[in-house]
Amino acid sequence: MRAHSSVDYDAIAHLYDSQPYRGKVADPELVTFMAQRAFAERPSILDIACGTGSQLVANCSIVPNARLVGLDRSFGMLRQARLKVRDIAWIQADGAMLPFQPESFDFITCQFGFHHVPDKAGMLRAVFQTLRCDGRFVMRNLCPQENPDWLYYDYFQEALAIDLADFWPPETIVATMEAIGFATVTVELEHLRFEQDLRVWLDTVRRRDTNSQLMAISDRAYEAGVHRLEREVADRAAPKVRADHLCLITIRGNKKDR
Ligand SMILES: C[S@@+](CC[C@H](N)C(=O)[O-])C[C@H]1O[C@@H](n2cnc3c(N)ncnc32)[C@H](O)[C@@H]1O
Repeated sequence: MRAHSSVDYDAIAHLYDSQPYRGKVADPELVTFMAQRAFAERPSILDIACGTGSQLVANCSIVPNARLVGLDRSFGMLRQARLKVRDIAWIQADGAMLPFQPESFDFITCQFGFHHVPDKAGMLRAVFQTLRCDGRFVMRNLCPQENPDWLYYDYFQEALAIDLADFWPPETIVATMEAIGFATVTVELEHLRFEQDLRVWLDTVRRRDTNSQLMAISDRAYEAGVHRLEREVADRAAPKVRADHLCLITIRGNKKDR
């Protein structure tokens, strides 16, 4: 089994926004941060692994005067972002190799991308160096350690093994951030519990190219999971609705004067 996932975002960039759950509203974490700070100069905001740029585009209305920068490794994802708004700076780079002067940003976020960055400690160090004093870093992601009962992991068990290898546990992220110098590091878990209609979900999992868990697993594991689901949907005696559980994590850290 592969040690970690290899999702080709260039190949699926044109499909990425087709999933309704990928839509973004203005980031409530940024709203809170802006309300807590008075800015002597133009605020500066960076989104690492910004993908197709939807979060920065949604933020434009709440920080109309800010300098907005989106960074991603995938040129294809950035091409989609550029089609939305041209006067945001869209930069192709690795999340651990931030091509900015030290202390250039007030607010840095990374949403659903940290697990993809090979040098995670390096990225956290680069974020700390790139933040201005009194700045904040907010990471948001899935938390596979907290939801091994997610239906994706039940039907596609290889995905759980890959995610557990790719996603650092919360305590590792917190300990690394604190060792680097972040202050008041906080963790918030959001447990989403809902019902999944397997007949509807079957259509979703057949669109393998819209889900990074399904793209990361072997063809054999993917086909086995789909066949199991097809059998259950066809079996008149099998339940058609199952309880599902997803956990999202938000980790925040501030940079204070030393
Ligand atoms: C699941 S998408 C998240 C996109 C966006 N942040 C969102 O919330 O919709 C993950 C993104 O991470 C990017 N990515 C993967 N590895 C990266 C790396 N080493 N450095 C920067 N970005 C990376 C991918 O190209 C992709 O756009």
